[in-house]
Amino acid sequence: MENLLDSKNKESLKFVLTFPLFSQEIFESRKKELLSLDINGIFSLGNLQLNKIFVLGKGSVGLVTLARYKQKYFALKIRRTDANRPDMYDEVAYQSLANSSGIGPFLVNFSENFILMEYIRGTNIIDWYSSARISKKRKIKCTSLILKQCYFLDCLKLDHGQLNRLDCHIIISKDDRPVILDFETSSTNRRMSNLTSASQSIFLNGPIHSHLLDSIHYDRKLIMKKIKAYKIEMNEERFDNILNILKI
Ligand SMILES: Nc1ncnc2c1ncn2[C@@H]1O[C@H](COP(=O)(O)OP(=O)(O)O)[C@@H](O)[C@H]1O
Ligand SMILES: [Mg+2]
Repeated sequence: MENLLDSKNKESLKFVLTFPLFSQEIFESRKKELLSLDINGIFSLGNLQLNKIFVLGKGSVGLVTLARYKQKYFALKIRRTDANRPDMYDEVAYQSLANSSGIGPFLVNFSENFILMEYIRGTNIIDWYSSARISKKRKIKCTSLILKQCYFLDCLKLDHGQLNRLDCHIIISKDDRPVILDFETSSTNRRMSNLTSASQSIFLNGPIHSHLLDSIHYDRKLIMKKIKAYKIEMNEERFDNILNILKI
C-alpha cells in the first residue's frame, strides 16, 4: 500500500491535504499539524477514486482517508479547504458525546483540521440490505440496532441532523454492526429527531424500506401512529412500540 507521506508521493499528499483547492501555505501548515498528531501513514485505499487516489469517502466538509497511527489503521477526516466551517471542533464535541453511549466511530485524536477515528470496514447500508446473501433475521437484528442507537442519541439530547438520509450516514460493519457516521451537522440545541427520522426512512419511505417489506408485517397507518406518538412524547415505552414493529 502506497504511503502518501513518502516523499515520492508529495503531489498526492498535497491533493488530499488541501482538497479541493491547493495552497502551498495551507499544505505546509497541515503537514505539520498532521505530524503533531503522530500520524505516520496516509494511504490510497477506498471505494472512491479522486484523481489517481483512492479515499474512504468524501462529503461537503471532509475527505476521509485511511491513516496509520501507533501501528494501527484509522480513518482520518480532513477538513476540505472549501468547507463551510472554520475547524472540526464542533464535530469532535458531538462525536465524543455520541461515543459516550457507544455510538459512532470512536474518536482517537483530533486537531483544527483533522479527526482521527475508528476505521469502519463495512458495506454501505443500501448494498447490505439489498444483498440476497444476508438473511431476513440478520436484517431485522441490524434494523433494531439502528433504532436503538437512534433512541440513545435522543436520550443524549443530541440531534444527528441527517438521519433522514440513512444511505450516506450508516455503514454496516463486517460483524453486522451498524455505525452512524458524520456528526458535522449535529446539535444539542435542536429538538431531537433521530428516531423519528430514521424510523420514517426505515419503515415508510427510505432506501432500505423495500428490502424489509417481506420480512415484517406492514400496516403503514399503525406505524405512522407509533412514530407520531413517540414524537409527541419521547419515552421508552413509546420507543418499544416502534421497536416492536420488527417483532410482529
Ligand atoms: N470512520 C469511517 N470509516 C470508514 N469510512 C468513513 C468513516 N467516516 C467517514 N467515512 C466515509 O467517508 C464519507 C464522508 O464522510 P462524512 O463524515 O459524511 O463527511 P462530510 O462531513 O463531509 O459529509 C462517508 O459517507 C463514508 O463513506
Ligand atoms: Mg456526510
